[in-house]
Amino acid sequence: MSVVVTGATGHLGRLVVEALLDGGLPPADIVAAGRSVEKIADLAARGVRVAAIDYTRPDTLVAAFTGADAVLLVSGSEVGRRVAQHANAIEAAKTAGVGRIVYTSAPRADTSPLILAPEHKATEELIRASGLPFTILRNGWYTENYAGSLEQARATGELVASVGEGLVASASRADYAAAAARVLTSPGHEGKVYELSGDRAWGHAELAAVIAEIVGRPVTYREVTPEEHLAELTGAGLDEGTAGFVVALDGNTRDGLLAETTGELTALIGRPTTPLAEGLRAAA
Ligand SMILES: NC(=O)c1ccc[n+]([C@@H]2O[C@H](COP(=O)([O-])OP(=O)(O)OC[C@H]3O[C@@H](n4cnc5c(N)ncnc54)[C@H](OP(=O)(O)O)[C@@H]3O)[C@@H](O)[C@H]2O)c1
Repeated sequence: MSVVVTGATGHLGRLVVEALLDGGLPPADIVAAGRSVEKIADLAARGVRVAAIDYTRPDTLVAAFTGADAVLLVSGSEVGRRVAQHANAIEAAKTAGVGRIVYTSAPRADTSPLILAPEHKATEELIRASGLPFTILRNGWYTENYAGSLEQARATGELVASVGEGLVASASRADYAAAAARVLTSPGHEGKVYELSGDRAWGHAELAAVIAEIVGRPVTYREVTPEEHLAELTGAGLDEGTAGFVVALDGNTRDGLLAETTGELTALIGRPTTPLAEGLRAAA
């Protein structure tokens, strides 16, 4: 079979390629596609086919997707531009006649008020409208998202957030990648929408304790209001837009939008998801 992985130059896509190889898919059956393909020269050296693609250049997408039984469309990283970019990829998948498109979405993307949900919802709708066989992987939060908090706590002894008591059911990127590899290479996933998340949801007091253990110094969770958080972030030099985004995401966390534990990730990968401490230690 032939499987294309977009975003293979990024963190998740690379891990999916690794998981496909670990699962025994021959390197020549994998197309690792990304923008800056110099980042994946090592995969090419291992016999994986490499394709330079840009979501804004449909010709590159059609060329990379032609002959694929399945294409993993890893959602792009340019927030605000992604619907048009993903539309190009979906159209290219149709033109190329791919067997199935698998998309990395967000938790409850069709109904969630999560600030990141609208682009994923729109993409899911485009996929359904395309008539292509599909699978949607609604990936929950990555544990690795907290690597920055870990570095801050290492320097200051504080974990500052406006998430209140909100819980996060995170899992490691490698867990989501294992699920993607499974869905790409086994039957029975057509038309399915998976809500993927870690097995256990944790709060920021626990996160502070885990970070303290890793950095080897006491770490306090200092809970701030959204207004205080915004002022602290802009005061530290973050631009208004980025600071507002961080505070809005903390608000989403406070509202429990990242807390759901569905067990669907564990069911797909056939093992427990990576615990917070283990995932964060690996990311540190
Ligand atoms: N669930 C979560 O917690 C979470 C957190 C952050 C992001 N995400 C989403 O999940 C995706 C994968 O996560 P990640 O950690 O692997 O992100 P990442 O390391 O930033 O990788 C993003 C990938 O998207 C590619 N890309 C971006 N714009 C592109 C374009 N115009 N054309 C072609 N490729 C393009 C990048 O290619 P180049 O490297 O070649 O430029 C890279 O391979 C992200 O892009 C984002 O949509 C989820």
